[in-house]
Amino acid sequence: LKPRNREVVLAARPAGPATVDCFAERASDIAEPADGEVLLRNVYLSCDPHLRQEMDNDRPLPRPISSRVVGLVERSRHADFLPGDVAWGQGRWELFSVCPGSSLTKVDPAIGPISHAISVRGMPGLTAYVAMTDVGRPAADETVLVSAAAGAVGSLAGQFAKMAGARVVGIVGSDAKADHVVRRLGFDGAVNYRAGGVLSEAVRAACPAGVDIYFDCVGGDALEAALAVSNLHARFVLCGMIASYDGQPAAGVRNLMQAVTSAVTMTGFRVSMHRHRLPWYATMAAGLLAAGRIRYAEDIRDGLAAAPAAFIGMLHGDNIGKRLVRVNEDPYLRNG
Ligand SMILES: NC(=O)c1ccc[n+]([C@@H]2O[C@H](COP(=O)([O-])OP(=O)(O)OC[C@H]3O[C@@H](n4cnc5c(N)ncnc54)[C@H](OP(=O)(O)O)[C@@H]3O)[C@@H](O)[C@H]2O)c1
Repeated sequence: LKPRNREVVLAARPAGPATVDCFAERASDIAEPADGEVLLRNVYLSCDPHLRQEMDNDRPLPRPISSRVVGLVERSRHADFLPGDVAWGQGRWELFSVCPGSSLTKVDPAIGPISHAISVRGMPGLTAYVAMTDVGRPAADETVLVSAAAGAVGSLAGQFAKMAGARVVGIVGSDAKADHVVRRLGFDGAVNYRAGGVLSEAVRAACPAGVDIYFDCVGGDALEAALAVSNLHARFVLCGMIASYDGQPAAGVRNLMQAVTSAVTMTGFRVSMHRHRLPWYATMAAGLLAAGRIRYAEDIRDGLAAAPAAFIGMLHGDNIGKRLVRVNEDPYLRNG
């Protein structure tokens, strides 16, 4: 029997919060790469928060889900790739993706887990590095507050601020995540925003010297709490606002006047504008990982059919580190 491709597509626009019913699975023959193309056997798919925003647009349904993937070259009609090579690029939530060879980047499996190409050594890592280092510009003895601090981007953003000598506090959604960022990642403190109480008071208690840099992945209440404790000339890096992605408006920021009082600089950030730095960043991050100077968690679910629930779970915080889905066997996975 000829092997078939399977794909998860967007089948319905969410009426409120996304549900697994918004997705559907379909089967097809495995496509043949044309001249210049490569057929990739996907191993890992990425679950990214911005997909939730993509689900709301009004392009016709059903439609494929564009996603970063890392996989093995199955067939190649591009001079740079041979069967068995590992590569990452923009594919789809499917078992096999055909990609232009020119859009793929080779991955050396000797450097570390191949999944790292789309997590800590990839675009989420670049986001954390450039947004924290170039936009936030942390200095020794400054206090840095990071929201979604146990996630793919936040967990690294906090570590890059620590490397600059700052005191780093994370906002997270559970005690287990607070434990993770403090004990495993070396943050100086953490606030569980689901613990009850007034968030700005909890943040003030964790940041007694006020906040010099706020790295925002959340918006809403978290942004309001950070403003409430902002120091003079604080820098706010606006990286994402996940509290408002899943069909519910985030609570409004009612204290924007504090940005006037503290003379806060707020800078929006888009990693797509810094893509050209990825090769340099990937090499640097590999060195930091090898030297044990940064730590990184991946939170991997198995099987293509698990992708919709894995994505929705991440939106609601059931991940520690980067949420990925493994859809084919990873031959480089070391036992233990
Ligand atoms: N600007 C860019 O170029 C760029 C690039 C990549 C990512 N981003 C943004 O960066 C942010 C993090 O992305 P990621 O891929 O690293 O995802 P992630 O942090 O690994 O996962 C999302 C996390 O958001 C938290 N969250 C969800 N709803 C929340 C709420 N209402 N209040 C507080 N926290 C909430 C959850 O953790 P808790 O358990 O802590 O709630 C969840 O684990 C997102 O806003 C994303 O859009 C921006």
